[in-house]
Amino acid sequence: MQNNRLNIIILAAGKGTRMHTHQPKVLHQIGGKPMLEHVINCANALNPHKVVVVYGYGGEQVKAAFSDKKIIWAEQAEQLGTGHAVQQALPHLDEEGQTLILLGDVPLISQAACQNILNQADQQLMIQSFDKSNPAGYGRIVRQAGTVSAIVEEKDATAEQRTITEVNTGIMAMPTAKLRHWLSQLNNHNAQQEYYLTDIVGIAVADQTVVNAEKTNDEWSVTGINSKQDLAFIERVYQQREAEKLMQKGVTLLDPARIDLRGVLHTEKDVQIDVGCIFEGKVTLGEGVRIGAYCVIKNAQIAAGTNIAPFSHIEAATIGQNSKVGPYARIRPGTVLNDETHVGNFVELKNAQVDTGSKINHLSYIGDATVGKNVNIGAGTITCNYDGANKFKTVIEDNVFVGSDSQLVAPVKIGKGSTIAAGSTITKDTPEDALTLCRAREQKSISGWKRPVNTKKD
Ligand code: UD1
Ligand code: MG
Repeated sequence: MQNNRLNIIILAAGKGTRMHTHQPKVLHQIGGKPMLEHVINCANALNPHKVVVVYGYGGEQVKAAFSDKKIIWAEQAEQLGTGHAVQQALPHLDEEGQTLILLGDVPLISQAACQNILNQADQQLMIQSFDKSNPAGYGRIVRQAGTVSAIVEEKDATAEQRTITEVNTGIMAMPTAKLRHWLSQLNNHNAQQEYYLTDIVGIAVADQTVVNAEKTNDEWSVTGINSKQDLAFIERVYQQREAEKLMQKGVTLLDPARIDLRGVLHTEKDVQIDVGCIFEGKVTLGEGVRIGAYCVIKNAQIAAGTNIAPFSHIEAATIGQNSKVGPYARIRPGTVLNDETHVGNFVELKNAQVDTGSKINHLSYIGDATVGKNVNIGAGTITCNYDGANKFKTVIEDNVFVGSDSQLVAPVKIGKGSTIAAGSTITKDTPEDALTLCRAREQKSISGWKRPVNTKKD
């Protein structure tokens, strides 16, 4: 149910100078999704009345990456600090209720952690903090007699304050009216000449509002990403967590540290995945599917009992039950393999619909083609589907046998039950149940013929 009293602000306007790239920081990906998308998903899961994303650096690029119509975009034309960023969101906030502030560069934040601080932020300012043994870069939580009195940024901290290990995650919740009041009092008299959001703590204390910081033990869920090292590190944490979830569902991972999920993977029982595989987009693996080492699988459905051998690439394809693919197969978009099909090494399929029981076992290219039932396609067969300008279709009917090293020049139909002799170049439709040959008329041998010799002097 929507919480009509809840507004969420996500700060995403910063450049991310420490990333040393042109790409806006919040578009860098974790698990194949921009880090901002993780944060937006977390926000939406809390069913807020409004989600306001403050954008700025790389603005159009950031906006274009999200199609969610419910997001309210607030521009921060100049990045003058996190407090200034929140000020840009103020016109969009409801007068009543609470505001939760999230940072676009803290992608693994959990719904439960947000809910926990929201539950305590009806009257007071709640801060999510954590203990970090090496707190460099984070704002330190300063306490007096145990009570939070300020947050001091690293660059403004005294040597003594820098030894504080309780740090600010940047995630805060408070009554919206109070936030408005505190923000109006910010200044930029600090080492970075920025309007720090964190200064509202001192202001709130002066305003007699209770400020509380609650520590989480789940350090990685609140770790901010400021550098490529942080990005790589959090990516590994994310992948480790996804691997755990797969194993909890019963998937056998031969090494949980060597799988990468960049989308959503649905699995039935008894799935086994060998090392080095990458799954992107939406992938479904049916019961007992086995994926060999180093496969890249994107937006594909693979039905029960099918075995994908190592080093295969599959994209936007559907594969039926009890089939065998690979090793070294490339299945490109639009391909549908029915049940009990075999696709072997160095075979490329594109927009090919292959019916039950058919085999394409070695070194072939089959594109823009339909292949009937129980067809055998010999090694080195090519469908010539492209004349340099247009693409044409090849139809291979049931029970066809195509001999090795044949070229089928589309548009062409290979009639039911027909056999194509090895080495043929077929340019016309072939009759059903007949043998069709198309080779040089005779085979001759020249005795005494000598191979050319290398005439170049060394
Ligand atoms: C901030 C906090 C620090 C905290 C840390 C947690 C402040 C002043 N500091 O530091 O206490 O420990 O996060 O990760 O709040 N942003 C804008 N506009 C700006 C500046 C930043 O939208 O003008 C956005 C950035 O895109 C980013 C987030 O705010 O998503 C945090 O900014 P960043 O510069 O990374 O702050 P930190 O130095 O990490
Ligand atoms: Mg940061």
